This record gives sequence, C-alpha cells and structure tokens, in this order.
Amino acid sequence: MLSEKMEDALNAQMNWEIYSANLYLSMASHFTHVGLSGFATWMNAQYQEEMFHAMRFFNYINGAGGHAKLGTIDAPQHDWKTPLAAFEDALEHEQGVTSRINDIANLAVEERNHAVGIFLQWFISEQVEEEESVSDVVGKLKLVGDGGGLFMLDRDLGTRVFTPPTNA
Ligand code: FEO
Repeated sequence: MLSEKMEDALNAQMNWEIYSANLYLSMASHFTHVGLSGFATWMNAQYQEEMFHAMRFFNYINGAGGHAKLGTIDAPQHDWKTPLAAFEDALEHEQGVTSRINDIANLAVEERNHAVGIFLQWFISEQVEEEESVSDVVGKLKLVGDGGGLFMLDRDLGTRVFTPPTNA
C-alpha cells in the first residue's frame, strides 16, 4: 500500500534513475567520440546499472499496488572538457542520488511504511558502492593527469562488465 505522496516520490526516483542512465550513456557516447573506448565501456556498464535501478522502482511501484508512470526525461549534457570533468560530474550526480534516496527513506519513516523502508535499504547500500566506484576513478584520473597513464586507465576501465546483482 502506497500513499499518494510515496507513490509520487517513488515515481520521481524511477524517472531520475532513467535520467541517470541517459547521462551515463551520453558520457559513453562522448568517450567513444574522443577515442577512449575503455571509458566508454565503463560508462555503458553504468548505463545498464542505472536501467536496472529504474526497473527495480518500476516493479516495486506496480507490485505494491501503485502505478509506475514514465515522465519526461531531460536531455543530458553531451560533451565534457576532460575525462576528469565527466567523472567529477558523475560523482556529484551520485551524491545527489544518495540524497534523493535518503529523502524517500525519511518519508518512509515518517509514514511508518516499513515495506518501502526495506525496499530502499538495498539502494542505501548500493549508493555507498556507487559513490565509491566513481570516486575511485576520480582519484585515479587526478593521479594520471593527461599523460600516458590515461591510456592504461582506459584499458583498465574497459574490462568492466555489468552483472545484475543476485541479491536484488
Ligand atoms: Fe542509480 Fe547511480 O544511482
């Protein structure tokens, strides 16, 4: 059972996850365009992960008797000056996602909706990992600068593959 306010909040988050997916797909396109195929692969995996997040919200809302409603998704940015600028934007974006998830978790407490609280626990843990993995790349980019290390990092990031979590 979802209150109207909770259903709206969950729908807003589902749509924000789709925006996140589009943002990372746009970064994948940008990296392909500038010849950094490993960075593009990493972002493509991130895109798939965000769509997985969106579908979790979609299925939960409908499963809880609500109505998952797709809304208008804003166009993401298309180009970034440097790989570091893109990953810094990604980190800021993830911090924003964490804050939004926390707001919904607070609403669940306020409404004593424990089922939503349990549903959101997975996302609360997931956001710790999301911030950590982006932050790790930001740190590496700061270390390597624009030199040859960038191409080694590109090779490293190109090994990322998205595997849907089994605990989801
Ligand atoms: Fe779905 Fe990266 O948060």
